[in-house]
Amino acid sequence: MKTRQQSSVTTRKIISGEHLNPNGTLFGGYLMCWMDEVAFLCARRFTGLPTCVTVNIDNITFRNPLRLGEHILLTAAVNHAGRSSMEIQVNVEREDAVTHELTHTNSAHLTFVCLDERSKPKAVPKLTLESADDRLKNKEALLRIRVRRRLINFLSKRRAVNELTLDHELTAETAMPPRWMLTLFREDRIQNFKNLLLGASTFPTFWAKRNRGSN
Ligand SMILES: CC(C)(COP(=O)(O)OP(=O)(O)OC[C@H]1O[C@@H](n2cnc3c(N)ncnc32)[C@H](O)[C@@H]1OP(=O)(O)O)[C@@H](O)C(=O)NCCC(=O)NCCS
Repeated sequence: MKTRQQSSVTTRKIISGEHLNPNGTLFGGYLMCWMDEVAFLCARRFTGLPTCVTVNIDNITFRNPLRLGEHILLTAAVNHAGRSSMEIQVNVEREDAVTHELTHTNSAHLTFVCLDERSKPKAVPKLTLESADDRLKNKEALLRIRVRRRLINFLSKRRAVNELTLDHELTAETAMPPRWMLTLFREDRIQNFKNLLLGASTFPTFWAKRNRGSN
């Protein structure tokens, strides 16, 4: 048994010239590599085993460009432990070099599988949920796992995909997962869901915004 806290790993990077794209901001591939790396360290720390591999990375969005000389903090922790797999959440924050103030820039959920000496899935330790936040993160992870499985099942059925392409013109719109599925992964929605569960006072604001949006 291990706790989320025991699995947690934090690392820092500095954006240097070699990491920039032609636009002068951080090339996304470097960030993806660092996120995978810190998640790998977390998986190793959690399992105490050397062989853990990435099997899936959920969508990463780049909304806040990172620039030359900026510091970033990458934090990884296990949200959910299955039989042989773990969902690991990585958060990226920009750190002000002077004030040490942190600003969230990216997040992703990565699934790692622990392997035995024959490269077959091997059991991982159970995750002990200590706090309300741990339990919430675990619940959200279970929801994403269910959605991922459904999506994989759907996409693996060739007939279903063919029907989709025959019945509808395959545009960017129709190729997107349903809106309700995307909603689950939106940071602000997750925050609202958390507030809802925790009974925070933002509940009326959420509905006020919704009603304003529908007018
Ligand atoms: C990881 C690997 C051994 C899994 O093999 P497999 O035959 O799919 O094994 P299983 O179907 O038993 O799945 C093992 C676990 O992975 C999970 N899993 C498999 N595919 C997944 C996916 N696309 N997304 C999330 N989880 C997934 C399963 O749910 C299962 O979890 P559980 O044991 O906690 O219930 C195999 O897919 C592999 O070798 N992948 C390459 C990994 C790699 O090289 N990564 C580096 C990146 S290039």
